[in-house]
Amino acid sequence: MTKVMFVCLGNICRSPMAEFVLKDLVRKRDLESEFYIASSATSFEEIGNGVHYGTVEKLKSLNIPVENRAATKLKSSDYDKYDYIIGMEKSNIINIMRIIGQDPENKVYRLLDFSENPRDIADPWYTGNFDKTYEDILEGCRAFLKRINI
Ligand code: 4NP
Repeated sequence: MTKVMFVCLGNICRSPMAEFVLKDLVRKRDLESEFYIASSATSFEEIGNGVHYGTVEKLKSLNIPVENRAATKLKSSDYDKYDYIIGMEKSNIINIMRIIGQDPENKVYRLLDFSENPRDIADPWYTGNFDKTYEDILEGCRAFLKRINI
């Protein structure tokens, strides 16, 4: 079982999108039972709130299932629970490290560092462009699966 925690600032736009995209990819490969995939925030801003409608609409337009969920915050105990803790951008990594303290088992990554073009995931919060965010997240999730030989 591979346990993956995606992390962004608010856990309403990017990290839930990554959670649902990766769940969809592993489902399509019949590997659902081999993964546990979740997402969380580094801030308290949106805790308890549902998935942003931009993420919901983009994923629904692609027939990618969206679960009804409420934003949660990353906990230091998540470090032991997960194999991979994957942030969307550099500032997420800084905030993840503030929460978990240290990363002795090299579990913390930025999603697009798995790709051949390392960069931050496009942030739709200010642009409203969830198409670009989706393309980046799909590229990152595919690159992640390739990295773990799936
Ligand atoms: P997310 O998007 O981190 O991708 O969920 C944001 C959500 C909330 C805020 C910023 C980005 N905010 O400033 O409250």
